[in-house]
Amino acid sequence: MAPRILKRQISFPEGFLFGAATSSYQSEGGNENTDWWIWEHGARRTKYLKDKDLDPAEYQSGIACDFYRRYEEDFALAASLHLRAIRLSVEWARIEPKEGIFNDEALAHYEAMLRAAKAHGFTIFLTLHHYTVPLWFAKKGGFAHKENITHFLHYARVTAKRLAPWVDFFVTINEPELYAIQGYAIALHPPQVRSYRAAWVVLGNLIHSHNLLAEYIQDHLEKPVSMAFNLTDLRPHGYFGKTVVRIANYLANEYVLRHTIDHCDYIGVNYYIHHHIGLFGQRKHSKSHHEESDRRWGIHPEGIARILLRLKRYKKPIYVLENGIADASDAKRGHFITEHLYHVHRAIARGADVRGYLYWSLTDNFEWEEGFWPRFGLIEIDREHGLARRVRKSAHQYAEICRTCILTLEP
Ligand code: BGC
Repeated sequence: MAPRILKRQISFPEGFLFGAATSSYQSEGGNENTDWWIWEHGARRTKYLKDKDLDPAEYQSGIACDFYRRYEEDFALAASLHLRAIRLSVEWARIEPKEGIFNDEALAHYEAMLRAAKAHGFTIFLTLHHYTVPLWFAKKGGFAHKENITHFLHYARVTAKRLAPWVDFFVTINEPELYAIQGYAIALHPPQVRSYRAAWVVLGNLIHSHNLLAEYIQDHLEKPVSMAFNLTDLRPHGYFGKTVVRIANYLANEYVLRHTIDHCDYIGVNYYIHHHIGLFGQRKHSKSHHEESDRRWGIHPEGIARILLRLKRYKKPIYVLENGIADASDAKRGHFITEHLYHVHRAIARGADVRGYLYWSLTDNFEWEEGFWPRFGLIEIDREHGLARRVRKSAHQYAEICRTCILTLEP
């Protein structure tokens, strides 16, 4: 007689929020009045892509997913997948296209979008800054100049006040560490500056911006607020591994947190990356033959538990605001989600106050400097056929977890 294979089931705490995340620039389309749009069409970028034999059109956000007009369709799909929470962002350049001039139509659009999300019963996380800035703000030097903080605060306060009735959780700024490093230190993103000093200044200004904005949101709107922190799972490797990890953990994972935690009601976590580091460089994985995503990022679900457990010391509720995989064939996504959720559950069992998990991303979208090829979506966007939406098989697997709050583990 064949042995009976037992499946194990674990359940999430009541009220645990399962959902998905998106951002405006990556999905809306037509965000011409931004630093990113100009950068994507610039001569330097076009030459760089052509020299690599790449088609610049594949690396320009253009119409993206046309989410600006098709949000209702995407919300209906998300609801059909039993998602209970959604993370969205708004585009500053639409709301304040010129310095001090607010566009009422754009604000009304976002009101309608949030109303539509609420009609589906979603808990809404709203991000006020997710990488892009209006052109006029970029021309003034953006977050590299301390005096520009007031411009950001003005936009963010007006917007937060107007949209607050539909928002459950505010996210002030997405991944300040990555924003500063990628734009100002390693010149990967606009404005492509290469100066650690500039990155440090930007980071300081983002921290300051968050703290002031959070105070306003807490005092006047009485909504919970946080940043979305990009947290990396760092493991020791080789000589002085532990010391290097301790220092790197402070700089990469703790610096911003420690300087903003008093102005956070919860902790928003984005988790994607795991590294082994030591004095003489780094190694990507724990084992030599390790599974990777299409972006060649290693898949290390156990890292999410380590990160969540480290956050226990702050004694605040935690929401995973992003975790996902680029997987065009959809061969790995289902397992990726199950494994990460298993480790989220393990962290909860060990005392981490994790209250939600939002998969990145609801649909395929514009993956910044990588263009459209990385496919993170629970829902495929068919770029050849009018941006048709197709729910992936893995999304149905996730939907079952969202519906039942039960995770079934294969032996
Ligand atoms: C960013 C997203 C991005 C995702 C995958 C996160 O760091 O917030 O905008 O698409 O990573 O690269």
